[in-house]
Amino acid sequence: MRVWAVANQKGGVGKTTSTVCLAGLLAEQGHKVLVIDLDPHGSLTSYFGYDPDSLTSSTYQLFQGEETATKDSILSLVVDTSVPGLSLIPTSPALATVERQMTGKDGMGLRVGKAMNVINAEFDYVLLDCPPVLGVLMINALAACERLLVPVQTEFLALKGLERMTRTMQMIQKARPQPLTFTIVPTMFDRRTQASTSSLNTLRKQYAENLWRSTIPVDTKLRDASRLGKVPSQHDPDGRAVRAYRQLVNFILSEDQKALEKQTSEQLTA
Ligand SMILES: Nc1ncnc2c1ncn2[C@@H]1O[C@H](COP(=O)(O)OP(=O)(O)OP(=O)(O)O)[C@@H](O)[C@H]1O
Ligand SMILES: [Mg+2]
Repeated sequence: MRVWAVANQKGGVGKTTSTVCLAGLLAEQGHKVLVIDLDPHGSLTSYFGYDPDSLTSSTYQLFQGEETATKDSILSLVVDTSVPGLSLIPTSPALATVERQMTGKDGMGLRVGKAMNVINAEFDYVLLDCPPVLGVLMINALAACERLLVPVQTEFLALKGLERMTRTMQMIQKARPQPLTFTIVPTMFDRRTQASTSSLNTLRKQYAENLWRSTIPVDTKLRDASRLGKVPSQHDPDGRAVRAYRQLVNFILSEDQKALEKQTSEQLTA
């Protein structure tokens, strides 16, 4: 099982949209995929037609009790979506209290990672959708993931937000046994606007090493898909945003493959 987190401290940059779209594409390729809503606002949960306000079983349960949850109790939180092969652990507003209750308690940053280890054999990919806040929930995602995707809206204020996110990643790097691999994904790119092109140029200068070379274009079909509760690749399989996300997923899968081959050859020569 591979765990990817989608995070940025800046709000409204395309985290939830990227999570849904990438998860839909992975499921379309035949993978067994789980998305987990770590945002108490519950956009991801609502996307798939569940009402966060009326749920009692949710991500919140992963933070309850002193021990890591058992496999059965974690799997009991999983619900189906309209997409074959794609499941969800929804959120509930109670998740917001985790920040207050758990901050400073030992081991609280590792709850999600430990739960992922317990259900390791159940899914091929897990995608964690984070809230736009640096707190216990985001820290859990950054500690649990093998790969971090940082959607960045191609506009000036979003670049400021990325500076903050970079500092957070540096802090997390120090606490992780394995280095955190991250990819910056420029979103809502509109090549006709000065704001989009100049912020993309800045990204290319300042973050060349970790920047995905292409962009996710602005595409109103994504909003239509979310209104209909469909993953974008179901709603508009050949739309320009879906095509871009398809390129992104293939890029990440090939990077993962390269990393795996490198790791195997290092183990063989050790
Ligand atoms: N490429 C795109 N083109 C057009 N609209 C988009 C695109 N990506 C996302 N959106 C729209 O922008 C809005 C914000 O996107 P989204 O909810 O994915 O951001 P977010 O980072 O998860 O926000 P939050 O920080 O509030 O969780 C949504 O209405 C979404 O439909
Ligand atoms: Mg969101």
